[in-house]
Amino acid sequence: FNLSRSYHEKVIDHYERPRNVGSLPRTDSDVGTGLVGAPACGDVMKLQIRVDERTNKIVDVKFKTFGCGSAIASSSYMTERVRGMSLDEASKIKNTEIAKELSLPPVKLHCSMLAEDAIKSAIKDYKSKRSASSAPNVNNI
Ligand code: FES
Ligand code: FES
Repeated sequence: FNLSRSYHEKVIDHYERPRNVGSLPRTDSDVGTGLVGAPACGDVMKLQIRVDERTNKIVDVKFKTFGCGSAIASSSYMTERVRGMSLDEASKIKNTEIAKELSLPPVKLHCSMLAEDAIKSAIKDYKSKRSASSAPNVNNI
């Protein structure tokens, strides 16, 4: 299909030059990993955040998306958007905002949903890691 005619420039830009592609070490205690799939098409997105434990802000973010152009663009856009945000702010980003910003057509809404799910899942992973590491060590009681 003709990408340039059917898609908004911003999507193409993020698709052709995706920002923040890569991985963070999953076992680092300050890294949260979100791995989600889209039931509609089977595409998969991994999004990782590194969080400053003092300020609760996202200081680094990386993604890998095995999916369509809109999913890649949505995750690239999401990484730019959440860098520097607090976990609270980042968890409130709606896929509809992403879709609007990238002018995704309705059939591609689920692609942006993948990015919303991915950041939420990364935040959840980070939080569960933190609460696990701050829980009292039963061996010391
Ligand atoms: Fe997922 Fe197109 S349906 S890549
Ligand atoms: Fe499935 Fe885009 S993520 S078509």
